Amino acid sequence: MGVGMGHGKSILFGEHFVVYGLPALAAGIDSMTIAKVTKKQVPGWTLDDRRPEVAGYKEKKKEEQKVSINNVLKHLGVDTSEHGINIELGGDLICASGFGASAASCVSLARALNEEFNLGLDDAQVNEAAYEGEKGFHGTPSGIDNTASTYGGLVWYVRNMQGGTPTFRPIKLDMSVNLVIASTGITASTTEVVGDVRKKKEADTDWFDAISKKYDTLVNMALEALKNGDLSKVGELMNQNHGLLQELTVSCNELDDLVSIARSNGALGAKMTGTGRGGNMIAITKDETTRNKVATALEEGGAAFVIKTTFGR
Ligand code: MEV
Repeated sequence: MGVGMGHGKSILFGEHFVVYGLPALAAGIDSMTIAKVTKKQVPGWTLDDRRPEVAGYKEKKKEEQKVSINNVLKHLGVDTSEHGINIELGGDLICASGFGASAASCVSLARALNEEFNLGLDDAQVNEAAYEGEKGFHGTPSGIDNTASTYGGLVWYVRNMQGGTPTFRPIKLDMSVNLVIASTGITASTTEVVGDVRKKKEADTDWFDAISKKYDTLVNMALEALKNGDLSKVGELMNQNHGLLQELTVSCNELDDLVSIARSNGALGAKMTGTGRGGNMIAITKDETTRNKVATALEEGGAAFVIKTTFGR
């Protein structure tokens, strides 16, 4: 049996903008998906999906999941036409929009196949295979989710718009930052939301360019503030990033409500994260006590579930 893991992720800055070559900052989170691959005598592959989920998530993504698995197998040259495999997916990462569950399933699968078939892949090759898998979930992934899922930690990521190797580098912080992630419980389609933003961009490039320019300044300031340990500034920039995502129309009332609750309970900053129109909200706090207060307020204020975690160090 081959076993592999992929981290969940949270985008701190840059969802949607990253699709168009602007930099993004993402953090791998501790929760992960674990894949186990076992060889079978019969041809084809079977999936035993035991991952915890927000109701309806797996059913909604079922067809995309199939394409994704086929993409990973094809990319790695694993032929199941004579002898098949069973894939078991488990781990503690909840399948819900915004956690990078699709990327984590691709990364964990690539690693499990690597082990079972002695493919000799390094992390960069695992990441490439996972990127092919991500294409099953949405046609034009920026690659940030699979990169954060493969490497964990905090990463600065810039997509290569010519289709070549992206630029990414791990960012080391001198401290660990308290993070709250709250789920709306709504499953969004990344393909639809990314496609909708693309249509809006094509219809009004000046509008999109003006927002992108503001974002570009903001994300570079965020990197400096993180490196300097200036969390108040990071929070302020997260709030501004949320405003830009609202302008792109990818937030929704449920996300905006969670953002307001986090801010009014002492978060230094809060924003939607990931695809939007559902999925998750993130907030940072100055200490653990405030993190707990924010988390409780979010739970009482209607979040489907809340995760308390950290990033950095
Ligand atoms: C989804 O987690 C992040 C998006 O920017 C899409 C992508 O980067 O591929 C919305």
